[in-house]
Amino acid sequence: MCNNHNEFGRRIAALRKEKGCTQEKISAMLNVTPQAVSKWEQGNALPDILLLPLLAKLLNVSIDYLLTGESSAGKVGPYDEEYQKEEYYWGMQPSELAEQIVELIEGDTAHKHLLDMGSGEGRDAIYFAKCGFQVDALEISTPGVEKIRQYSQLAGYEVNVLHADMIGYELSAAYDVIYSHGSLQFLPPEQRAKHFATYKQRTKVGGLNTHLIFVEKPFIKIAPDWEKNEFFYQSGDLARYYHDWEILRCEERIVDCNSAGIPHRHAVNHIIARKREA
Ligand SMILES: C[S@@+](CC[C@H](N)C(=O)[O-])C[C@H]1O[C@@H](n2cnc3c(N)ncnc32)[C@H](O)[C@@H]1O
Repeated sequence: MCNNHNEFGRRIAALRKEKGCTQEKISAMLNVTPQAVSKWEQGNALPDILLLPLLAKLLNVSIDYLLTGESSAGKVGPYDEEYQKEEYYWGMQPSELAEQIVELIEGDTAHKHLLDMGSGEGRDAIYFAKCGFQVDALEISTPGVEKIRQYSQLAGYEVNVLHADMIGYELSAAYDVIYSHGSLQFLPPEQRAKHFATYKQRTKVGGLNTHLIFVEKPFIKIAPDWEKNEFFYQSGDLARYYHDWEILRCEERIVDCNSAGIPHRHAVNHIIARKREA
């Protein structure tokens, strides 16, 4: 079999394991034998073309990525170079927002399912796991994902790493907490309403959504490491997305930052909102 078959097989095996699925489970969902899945993974056969859309869906990637290994997930990202270094770009201490969430939930974290979107090198995801959450850490950067795994092993707290692009990722689970810290500026403005609607829909009643986003201010210079695919929010955007939820906290403030080794400031807005019965 040619190399492309082997690469395809390795890719589906890696994606399947990342999702914690057995070959039996995938085969049952696709209505094929476990032996067929095993053959694909070993590069000895390819799935029927008609199975690709469902296989891609089950593995939470695009068909493009499934076939070529190329998509925005896995591409060189803005932080890749930094994440390849030994030190932790965002540090190893949890963010203030992560600590606030744990305080708010007051120890009642066991079996609570939390999604951290744009986890970076995992400082918050691992803190949440340490506090008892069952954590999914979604991150686009390959070195970021490696750092999360490495940190998780080092700390001895397990997190389920989802190496994916939040833009195309379909949330399949229902979460108690959907969390993001400084990553939702990568959602293009025209797609935000749809994404926030999905986060809200994928949250259990009584669960929380909590985000920290960057807000545009005419008197604050753009950060030195701000990228072309990052887009500011406007004051009040978060409160509007969650207008029909109970807002526990919503605060805008100016913070100092030293990312890229250059001192600068950001205007940030963070929200903690709870889903109530409809
Ligand atoms: C400012 S960093 C914050 C990292 C982390 N939340 C923290 O506070 O330490 C934003 C993160 O979002 C990730 N990211 C950017 N675009 C993404 C996308 N489309 N899907 C998933 N992650 C993304 C970046 O790779 C980066 O790690």
